[in-house]
Amino acid sequence: MGKFIINGGRELFGEVTISPAKNSCLPLIASTILFKGQFLLQLAPEINDIIVMSEIVKNLGGSYSFLNDGLFLNTENINSFTPSEDICKRARASFFVAGALLSRFKRAVVALPGGCKIGQRPVDIHISVLNQLGAKCYFDENRVVFDGKNMKAGITRLSYPSVGATINAVCATVFLKGESTIINCAKEPEIVDLCKFLNACGCNIAGAGSDRIVVNGVDLQKGVNLQFLPIKDRIEAGTYICACAACGGKISFEYDSFDNILAVIKLLNKSGATITMKKGIVNVECDKRNINCKSVVADVFPAFPTDLQSIYCALCTFSNGTTRVEDRVFQNRFEFLKELKKQGVDCEYIKNSAIIRGNKKLHGATVNAVDLRGGAGLIISGLAIDGETIVENSEIIKRGYYKIEEKFTSLGAFIKLVD
Ligand code: UD1
Repeated sequence: MGKFIINGGRELFGEVTISPAKNSCLPLIASTILFKGQFLLQLAPEINDIIVMSEIVKNLGGSYSFLNDGLFLNTENINSFTPSEDICKRARASFFVAGALLSRFKRAVVALPGGCKIGQRPVDIHISVLNQLGAKCYFDENRVVFDGKNMKAGITRLSYPSVGATINAVCATVFLKGESTIINCAKEPEIVDLCKFLNACGCNIAGAGSDRIVVNGVDLQKGVNLQFLPIKDRIEAGTYICACAACGGKISFEYDSFDNILAVIKLLNKSGATITMKKGIVNVECDKRNINCKSVVADVFPAFPTDLQSIYCALCTFSNGTTRVEDRVFQNRFEFLKELKKQGVDCEYIKNSAIIRGNKKLHGATVNAVDLRGGAGLIISGLAIDGETIVENSEIIKRGYYKIEEKFTSLGAFIKLVD
């Protein structure tokens, strides 16, 4: 088991590079299964979740390699609709391949997914949207078996705007003859990126970014050869913003679409940081003595993202006063607070809300990363607290953050990864 050793208390200064979004790369990789093609996902970071999804492509008969300029995938020889259960269990996003496999083979057998332990993660909405399009689905022990022989274009409605179920609905409909409408779909920027990618591959999708996506089925005879630059990671951007606010200092980074990070910027500007956006550059400046965090509710886009709530909670521990952070997306995403308490943080959670009483005397400690974003929160508190913090289970954080220790080191932090 690896760990991060942090000697905290230093301000952060300098420029940091935000990588292409993990949560965009994962559905893009899943959707390459739709085509016989060759793809380059430019600058896609070589992090564990992306490796696992690429391994699924390989397991189905395709191939991949990480090159200097990104992730190369070849899906020409994919010949299976049953990814191995062992690989599927290694990432929640493995279930995203169901829709693409149904489109390519009219069948799919996909194991129930793994991923972070952040509360129940059922697949009922995925199954319901595919059912509504005519797919038959049944459980066979740990696997879901899909039969898409009778699938037809039509209307499918999500009971909740699940990101993953929207991905499956889009991928399942791109080749169905006629028009499909996906109602109450997710509006996240990663969905917009997926639809942009699929349209560049020859699909016909409109409405991405709204709560209604319209897919007109296409009959693609030709193979696809595409280079595509995924959007930058809004969660990674938010992580560095919160880190700068907690530690104090001045950092900047290039960012392509300010709208995607507006919720975090507005919240942090109200909470004592000064964040400006100009000509594709985000500047963050903060005197940590002025941090006065505002309460927030994490919800679906464009609200403040659930993936940043634990990172924001870590910042709240340095705030003057008490902050309430509610998560309306996941029911059980506050386990990491137990670890923050080891650093002297005064906090508690009831159901899906955390209460953090900030500005207490905190101290370094050995803590355990229980999930990806909670683990990133522990790194932030470790960077801001004077003294040594050890964050164990570094692998879970490395699943989603590319070279996090190098990026923080380049900003002047003292953080070392010991494998
Ligand atoms: C994606 C993101 C994840 C983010 C989440 C919400 C990836 C790889 N992961 O996950 O980082 O936190 O969106 O923005 O992109 N649900 C059901 N039944 C279902 C599906 C979902 O009840 O069939 C519930 C989940 O338990 C959860 C909520 O809906 O409480 C949101 O899940 P969903 O939007 O599907 O998240 P993911 O696609 O898994």
